[in-house]
Amino acid sequence: MAKRDKSYALRRLYLAKNESSSYTEVSNISKGEEAMKDSHGRVIDYLRISLTDKCNFRCIYCMPADGVQPMGHDELLRIEEIETIARVATRIGIRSVRLTGGEPLVRKGVVDLVASLHDMDGIVNVSMTTNGVLLPDMAADLKAAGLSRVNISLDTLDPEQFTYITRVGRLESTLRGIDAALEAGFNPVKINAVTVRRLNQDFLAFAKLSIDRPLHVRFIEYMPVGESTGSDGTGWDRSDVIPSEELLGIINERAVAEGLPELVSTGDDGKPIGWGPARYYEFPGAKGTVGFISPLSRHFCSQCNRLRLTADGKLRPCLFSDREIDVRSALRKGGEDAVYDCFLEALNMKPDDHHDKVGTERNMSQIGG
Ligand code: GTP
Ligand code: 5AD
Ligand code: SF4
Repeated sequence: MAKRDKSYALRRLYLAKNESSSYTEVSNISKGEEAMKDSHGRVIDYLRISLTDKCNFRCIYCMPADGVQPMGHDELLRIEEIETIARVATRIGIRSVRLTGGEPLVRKGVVDLVASLHDMDGIVNVSMTTNGVLLPDMAADLKAAGLSRVNISLDTLDPEQFTYITRVGRLESTLRGIDAALEAGFNPVKINAVTVRRLNQDFLAFAKLSIDRPLHVRFIEYMPVGESTGSDGTGWDRSDVIPSEELLGIINERAVAEGLPELVSTGDDGKPIGWGPARYYEFPGAKGTVGFISPLSRHFCSQCNRLRLTADGKLRPCLFSDREIDVRSALRKGGEDAVYDCFLEALNMKPDDHHDKVGTERNMSQIGG
């Protein structure tokens, strides 16, 4: 545990001190292989692994109403294959792994996978993004297996709107998942809320979740990803995107009207631990924070630190680019060395920026956010 704690501390210190300068010292942070840079000089140390494209919800901005075409048995990476790919990933400097979906907790073997990733040399952080429904049953086991943190998706506190957005879910089930995550001792626990103008969500009610409990609420700009964001549900339209600056203004205005103080920036020292692109604020004295993830209004590509592995074994250098590398075939035909070559190719292929080319062929549930 000592090694992990030290790595956290060093990385936080490093990020706080060097956010805008070059990343060359990162390779000294933890033992293991050297950190690697992509062809644009960015250190890539974060891998998002989608375990399945299945989900117990059908969120309107994420997947079609009738779900996704199930993957063939051979298409899906086996748990041992994911472990092998993650081990090779540490050789190019991956330090942090986030398990995503679909819903990662519906994948059989997920707790054992967490344990083996946690024990893997080079990995200092194993986290998960989930809709929380299965956490009441699984949070304690996941914590014991070594999961560091959970981010829970929740877009509204209104029960009817919750069922409208998820098409099949009940607000209570996700709220119970949040309680379970806190009870199991996860820290930080973050809440991801996708913001869609026409849904008219109550943003202040959300931000206030951060006051009494150590919850870190993050508002995400609605992104055009996959066919579900055009075919039904809300259907993505640029007018639905609420730029983070505007949202901050809306929340502050409503907070003041209720006699609350305005949100203030946390600065680097007050940020919750994380590997992602959110910018954080807080109500003075609150136990948690309020973050903004702004892929459309404020490109964070220059600080991008990640690669993505889809459940069917494709390495995706950029969320908004459909160019993928078939690491599953490479592994099955050529073993670990072939996988290593795929990672090098991904580092080379990673674009410098999405240049406003947003939108993808695959749904978010297939890419993992
Ligand atoms: P931590 O900060 O380490 O807790 O994680 P994170 O914010 O990277 O993970 P999470 O899965 O909670 O990500 C939240 C959401 O931010 C994702 O689901 C995406 O919607 C968005 N996001 C994360 N990374 C990227 C990225 O590289 N590009 C874009 N466009 N959006 C991203
Ligand atoms: N735009 C923004 N965020 C999205 N997510 C899913 N689809 C979209 C979208 N179109 C978020 C979910 C979850 C994460 C995996 O991705 O809310 O937090
Ligand atoms: Fe499932 Fe998350 Fe997609 Fe909703 S956003 S359908 S909970 S994967």
